Amino acid sequence: MSDASPSRRPRVLSGAQPTADSYHLGNYFGAFRQWAAMQDEFEAFYFIPDLHAITIDYDPALLRERTYIAAAQMLASGVDPDRSILFVQSQVPEHAQLAWVFNCLTGFGEASRMTQFKDKSAKNGAEKASVGLFTYPMLMAADILIYQADKVPVGEDQRQHVELTRNLAQRFNHRFGETFTVPEAHIVKETAKIYDLQDPTRKMSGSNASHAGVVDLADTPKQVAKKVRSAVTDSGSEIYFDREAKPGVSNLLTIYSAVTGKTVEEVVADYEGRQYGHLKVELGDLLADFVGGFSERAQGYLDDRAELDRIFATSAEKAREMTVPMLRTVYERSGFVLPG
Ligand code: TRP
Repeated sequence: MSDASPSRRPRVLSGAQPTADSYHLGNYFGAFRQWAAMQDEFEAFYFIPDLHAITIDYDPALLRERTYIAAAQMLASGVDPDRSILFVQSQVPEHAQLAWVFNCLTGFGEASRMTQFKDKSAKNGAEKASVGLFTYPMLMAADILIYQADKVPVGEDQRQHVELTRNLAQRFNHRFGETFTVPEAHIVKETAKIYDLQDPTRKMSGSNASHAGVVDLADTPKQVAKKVRSAVTDSGSEIYFDREAKPGVSNLLTIYSAVTGKTVEEVVADYEGRQYGHLKVELGDLLADFVGGFSERAQGYLDDRAELDRIFATSAEKAREMTVPMLRTVYERSGFVLPG
């Protein structure tokens, strides 16, 4: 494409589904904090994939509310609408239009091998899974490729979807001429990955059955301190980092490091000769302060819906400066007669 000029900054693109009443600590340390840090080096596109959010059972009023909450929490994380394009997926219709082309380039068997689809459809019985859930990865490919994104920060669970995206870019390029940038996944380091406080072998996730081990970014300081103090720890009493032997303590050390900016080694040194209880109480207080400040900032953004709507509108307009010509190119190469 013409915009692959050597002068442009590399592009980063990512999204986080608005499927909970709040994002959690794992979203912040594993994703949003990196998003904010990447805004200067990259041309940044961050969005709320509301089209993806309707692939499973949902409530319309709740989806709309959660979309605003998502934006407020991204802003509170430091995503800056003057330096990034922070948009709502459904406000940029070219994503869905491009997704159709990718649906037609993807084999049924190929899509059937997506592990997230297999897991999610198995949960409620395959008969009930929507066709949208099945085509979700091709919409995600469209999200990424329509902007010629170079880097896509995602969790390990999305790696296969980015792999499919790369295959689709190459397939289209091969069949219809060089069109798409082939993007790379940017997976967060293991030491930035936050696990559930009650089950530190599984990642912290909004869909975990119990929220006792999930610190939400909208929790009150009291709730946060309590969750951390009740965190599951491991046998033994020494504090050191070992994901296998000490998953609970290692998770607390990771969070401590993330919230203070100290390295895990420094934190371990600070706690030499002390007990799990000290670590839990002190981390609980630190996190309570952190989340308290965060939710106050987020609430400030949430209280001004008109301003959020303005950010969405400006961002969608900027996004469409790219997506409209890109879709036109793709449709032209696909053999469609373009409107005059
Ligand atoms: N599927 C991603 C998730 O659940 C969200 C998402 C949708 C996304 N489109 C994207 C992430 C494009 C990165 C790039 O986490």
